[in-house]
Amino acid sequence: MGSVLLSKLRFRGLSVEDADWITEALNDPEVAKYLGIYPRTEHEIRNDVKNDLEKVQERYVVAELDGEPAGCICVSLDMGRCRHLGWLEGLFVRRKHWGKGVGYALTNEGIKLARELGIRKVMITTTEGNERAKRLYEKLGFKIEVYENDHAYIDGSWRKEYVMGLELSPCKPKLSESSITSNNQSSQNSNIKINVRQVGDPDLDEVHKLQNCPESTKSSRRIPPITKDETKRWYEGLKSQEGKYCLACFENDKLLGYLQFTAFSPPHLHLRLDEIIVDSKKSQKKQQMPWSKRLKASRKDMDTIKYSPTYRKQA
Ligand SMILES: CC(C)(COP(=O)(O)OP(=O)(O)OC[C@H]1O[C@@H](n2cnc3c(N)ncnc32)[C@H](O)[C@@H]1OP(=O)(O)O)[C@@H](O)C(=O)NCCC(=O)NCCS
Repeated sequence: MGSVLLSKLRFRGLSVEDADWITEALNDPEVAKYLGIYPRTEHEIRNDVKNDLEKVQERYVVAELDGEPAGCICVSLDMGRCRHLGWLEGLFVRRKHWGKGVGYALTNEGIKLARELGIRKVMITTTEGNERAKRLYEKLGFKIEVYENDHAYIDGSWRKEYVMGLELSPCKPKLSESSITSNNQSSQNSNIKINVRQVGDPDLDEVHKLQNCPESTKSSRRIPPITKDETKRWYEGLKSQEGKYCLACFENDKLLGYLQFTAFSPPHLHLRLDEIIVDSKKSQKKQQMPWSKRLKASRKDMDTIKYSPTYRKQA
């Protein structure tokens, strides 16, 4: 690592008072380049910090060098079936302190905290071209597990996003190829009228039932039983958080399934599919709900969301 004496470095939690130096740091184009939109006002950052501090799934670590804040990292705990994972997010170091080992020490502190919280595997993402960050993570033992093409548009070119992992305690046993049973059925479209739209207030009872259907336990991050309050909190989050959407698929008034996704802001011009639940019992009649077709149909909606800054949720 760099030349900083570890004895000069202290770690502490984040507070709303940190908004001023974070604003200054994140408005540096070189720091913001791989992180997101800038310039940001102190007011926006202060609100973000306030909201972030309320999230029980997120823990922030601030590094201080000679008593002055130098950088920050977040450990975000995954949920449900993925609760063995901890994501290190939003790492940045003030530019004047780059190359002194602060980034390395902060990431290491994030890993330590994740271990203390019982996390088995730490994940981190970085963008193609961010060699400083990638090398730092590799030095700490992270390995690229997968990458996403054309994730962000930076300095005139589309970049990959690397997802890197570091196992803290073994995740075993793994699923073997042979044990994966194929129950692929052909996608027979029938003449059933299906309607896809954004989830709204009147749908909450149906959504609550869907989140508790047996299929939701298989691939979703939830672990039923989900209470009505949890469904309501999920919905409030959907309505209040920038870029979060949920397309629901109905047959008449019956909710067959939903697809929740996040539309990211520049430079990360992409959609992340967060959760898909299809109640197989309700869609049994048709063997398999024609999601692929519905998604193609709703691709137009998604493109509108992706490319139009004026898109507003219809909920
Ligand atoms: C990435 C970042 C956090 C690194 O912080 P830092 O305090 O400079 O990191 P460190 O000093 O601990 O380590 C940097 C390492 O990268 C290496 N490095 C420095 N410049 C590099 C470059 N141009 N190419 C490749 N590696 C480089 C250094 O060799 C150093 O390794 P060393 O310890 O062997 O010298 C900081 O540059 C930053 O805030 N970047 C902007 C935000 C960002 O990109 N965050 C990460 C999002 S994934």
